[in-house]
Parts: sequence; structure tokens; C-alpha cells
Amino acid sequence: MKAKKIKENIYWVGAIDWNVRNFHGYLTQRGTTYNAYLIIDEKITLIDTVKPGMEDEMLARISDIIDPSKIDYVVSNHVEMDHSGGLPKIMNIAKNATIITCPNGDKGLKKHYKEDWDFKVVKTGDSISIGKLSLEFILTPMVHWPDNMFSYLREEKILFSNDAFGQHLASTARFDDEYPEDIIMSEARKYYANIVLPYPNPVKKALEQAKNIDIEIIAPSHGIIWRKNVNKIVEEYHKWVSGKTEKKAIIVYDTMWKSTEIIARAIQSVFEDTGYNAPLFNLQVNHMSDIMTEVLTSEYVCVGSPTLNKNIMPSVAGFLTYFQGLAPKGRKGIAFGSYGWGDQSIPKITEFFKNSGIDIVDTYKVNYIPDNKDTDNIKEKLNEKLTQK
Ligand code: FEO
Repeated sequence: MKAKKIKENIYWVGAIDWNVRNFHGYLTQRGTTYNAYLIIDEKITLIDTVKPGMEDEMLARISDIIDPSKIDYVVSNHVEMDHSGGLPKIMNIAKNATIITCPNGDKGLKKHYKEDWDFKVVKTGDSISIGKLSLEFILTPMVHWPDNMFSYLREEKILFSNDAFGQHLASTARFDDEYPEDIIMSEARKYYANIVLPYPNPVKKALEQAKNIDIEIIAPSHGIIWRKNVNKIVEEYHKWVSGKTEKKAIIVYDTMWKSTEIIARAIQSVFEDTGYNAPLFNLQVNHMSDIMTEVLTSEYVCVGSPTLNKNIMPSVAGFLTYFQGLAPKGRKGIAFGSYGWGDQSIPKITEFFKNSGIDIVDTYKVNYIPDNKDTDNIKEKLNEKLTQK
């Protein structure tokens, strides 16, 4: 296992998780990486670690450059265990190392590991000299946990951004000029939609603070390092955080005997005919985390379920629970579904919408199998709604 040089005396020493496919509910179809970075200066500094169980890969890459026991500082930019999980092993080897973290990191790491490690607590604007180079810190709480921070290596213009600007993408390529750009951008978008989306204000604040520094390289804690498309990914973050939507309506549903699917297709045809991009997602074959990537830029979110045992289908409930947690703002909602003798699916879906702050535009329900008259009624009603704006 080799380290990968980023710049003179700065190395990537992380671990590649080729086979992870479930990241607490997020389908990571391309795996991921846990990026740790080693800086060789008068003080040997490690930035972040890796997921528990992958420490040996990180240690092998560090050992390619230096004896890990010589590490002086371990910067912990985030407590979540995909980045701090390697601390017990590294601190057991680098016995004199000091952990540098923010106040919430200090609390979180002590609660996680209950170890009597040496901590140095930093806040925004603090910097430490590690020899010729110095590290500055910017606290970025809630991007993604209360303990997140950025570390900035001013002399080399490298921002170690932890979760921000990351992508779940396993690769031996380390830089964005070594890997297909469309895949990196698409995984960065999916990552934002599934991890960062609930925290627009903290992200805005972090972007605002990052504006004041000169960045040549963004080194996140997952996926590919940005050096060619630094401005582009920062611009994309500005766009995503603004909540600006496109002329797009996504239609998400499950169906038992295709009655709800007939309604879904009627809704889709109206959106398509009025100039909307209107992708259709049957939850039997689409993963909710891929659908959330589409929600990121959708003006309308249409959700359908037949009534099943006085409720909605479990796949739809799972999607709506996930959706509610990620809390996209400023979307318009349409609930739809078929029913037999009960009629509970629409109120269940609208309840999720209300709890998510979705502006409910209309609801469509059909008893048993929709015929042409039913679908024509739905089309007429929806068309009126879309054209009366
Ligand atoms: Fe990649 Fe919030 O941890």
C-alpha cells in the first residue's frame, strides 16, 4: 500500500472501501474512500483517519513515508466514525501525539472513545505552526455534525474540507483530472442531496468563510480531490445551497396492481406536455437515495401509493421518512393513489408533506382501477393548476 503524493511533503494516506454499498441508507453504488492526509514538516501531522477496521490500510500508506509512531499531531476535522474510527489505533502507536479538534470535537471524541488523549482545542481563526507550514481552522458546525471543521494549509493553499465537497466514490485515481468529470460531479451531487441537504444555512456560512481564502486544492474526506474543478464544485455548492429548482417534477410511487401507476403516468403526461422534465420512479426498482438526487433540483415532488392495510406501502413510507429527514425546502407536493374499500393513503402522504414543509398543490385518488374518464379528470385538474400560475 503506497501513499499518494498531493504536493511536496503532503500525501493522501486513506483507505479505499471498494465494496461498501449501504452508508446508513444511502446506496453507495461506487463504494467510497476515507481520506486521511499526512503532512511532513517539523511536526508530522495527520489529518483525519479512516473507518474502524480499515486502519491497517492507512497505517501501511503512512509507513510508506514515515514511521507512524513519529506523528506529532492528529487533526480531527469530524467525530463521525468514518473519520475518527482510526484514532484508537493511531494514538496507541503515536503515543506522544496531540489531537487537534474544535470544542464540539473535543466533547464528541471524549464521549466516543473515553480515552485520556492529549487534546488541543481550536476555534475559527486559530492557527498552529507545524514548521515551515501552518494550519488554520474554520469551524463548520452541522456540515455535517456539530463538530465539523475545515483545516487550511495556507502556504500550499489546500483546504481539508472533510465531508463538504465529498463524493462516495472508490477509486485508485485521487485527483479530479484523473477521473471522468461527469461521474465525479454526479456523485458529488448525490452526496450533497443525501448528506448535506438538511443544513443549508451552515453550508452557506461555511462557503462564506471559505470565500476569504485562496484555494488551489480541496481535499475532502471522501472520494476524489479537487484541483482542476475547484471553482466549479464551489459554484455547484452555491447553486445547491440556494435551493433553486428547475422546471422539473419527479413522480415517485409504488403500485400493487398498477392502478397507482396509471395515475402516475397521467400526472407525468401533464407535466411533460407543459414543458416539465418529469422522470418517473417506481420504488420497486429505484433506490431512495438516487431519487433524492433528483429532488435536489425538482420544483414538484409527486408521491403515490395505493392504500395497503389502512396505510401506505412500506416502500413509500420509507422514502417519505428519508425525505422528511433530509428536509428539502420550497418544494410543491402532489399526493396520489388508488384505493379499494379504505381510503387512507392520501392523508398519510399529505401528513408527511405537511411535516416536511411541502406546499401541497393537489391530491388525486381513484377507487380501484382508473379508467379514461378518471385519468382525463386528473389531467384536466392538474393542467388547470399548472396553467393558472
Ligand atoms: Fe463522512 Fe459525517 O462523515
